Amino acid sequence: MIIKTQSDIPSSEITNVEVFKNRRKIIKAALATPVLGLIPNVSKAEEKKIFTDIPVGPYSQALETTDFEDVSSYNNYYEFSTDKEYPKILAKNLITNPWNITVEGEAEKTGVFQLEDILKKNSLEERIYRFRCVEAWAMVVPWIGFPLAEMLQQFKPTSKAKFVEFTTLHDSEVMPGQQTKTLQWPYIEGLRIDEAMNPLSFIATGMYDDVLPNQNGAPLRLVVPWKYGFKSIKAIVKIRFLETIPASSWNLSAPSEYGFYANVNPNVPHPRWSQKRERMLGGNIFTPKRDTEIFNGYAEQVASLYNDMDLTKEF
Ligand code: MTE
Repeated sequence: MIIKTQSDIPSSEITNVEVFKNRRKIIKAALATPVLGLIPNVSKAEEKKIFTDIPVGPYSQALETTDFEDVSSYNNYYEFSTDKEYPKILAKNLITNPWNITVEGEAEKTGVFQLEDILKKNSLEERIYRFRCVEAWAMVVPWIGFPLAEMLQQFKPTSKAKFVEFTTLHDSEVMPGQQTKTLQWPYIEGLRIDEAMNPLSFIATGMYDDVLPNQNGAPLRLVVPWKYGFKSIKAIVKIRFLETIPASSWNLSAPSEYGFYANVNPNVPHPRWSQKRERMLGGNIFTPKRDTEIFNGYAEQVASLYNDMDLTKEF
């Protein structure tokens, strides 16, 4: 497996002046209304260039990209439907701009913030990268986003913040799946603070050189490359810094099947299936499966986070 570290990245891929000047436009791009496909004050040609100018982030992998069609047409988004083909159709009604995020708990800066302001703050706009990793359900997506830590640090978490909890929008008018009892709503996920601050955890606001489609979690979704896909919470509206471990939706619904940590681990089977091998999205029953790697191939970066834990019990 090829993992690019910062030092492996050719200087041509590291920020140049033009890219720097384009950052503001990239922010606008991240916030563009996907339905209209518009970036304010930016032509289509310019928009294409902005996206192609985004540098490759650390730890991106040189892997074959899954087709955009597969990634944007086969989705898990229970707020819309448990059927994987419907979120693409039903999520069209979700309005993602303007978007507010409420920050609560063990942090110095709490309150309601506009996503646009969060993205403009500090040097976040200088930290927009391309990320490419195997998702654990399993696909390779050319994401565009920024390290989660860069966003969280804006709120100055206190020393009591041991965990961070994320919540998805709760609006059953727009999200018809929330009228059912499939999961407890709103969808909640969480990370331990050191996992959240690890440079591998990131927030995606775009993919395939465009803004994030609604069905993939617009306007912002989490991606934690060494964990199973259900940790990647979509359409985040709340961030809460906590002293104690949060109750996450999947863990609440089936604790014996979905642990809080959910680290990709071929040695710990799901109660109903083995997790030793996986078939990439877009394949068919004849496509050979690949061996699942511990921590999805990122052991070097993250295994030390779990040195003191028995991962067969804290799965
Ligand atoms: N986030 C929300 N809010 N609701 C969901 O149902 N499903 C999760 C995760 N994030 C989900 C969610 C699961 S189970 C997976 S596998 C991934 O999103 C799927 O992401 P994708 O549709 O972009 O491939």
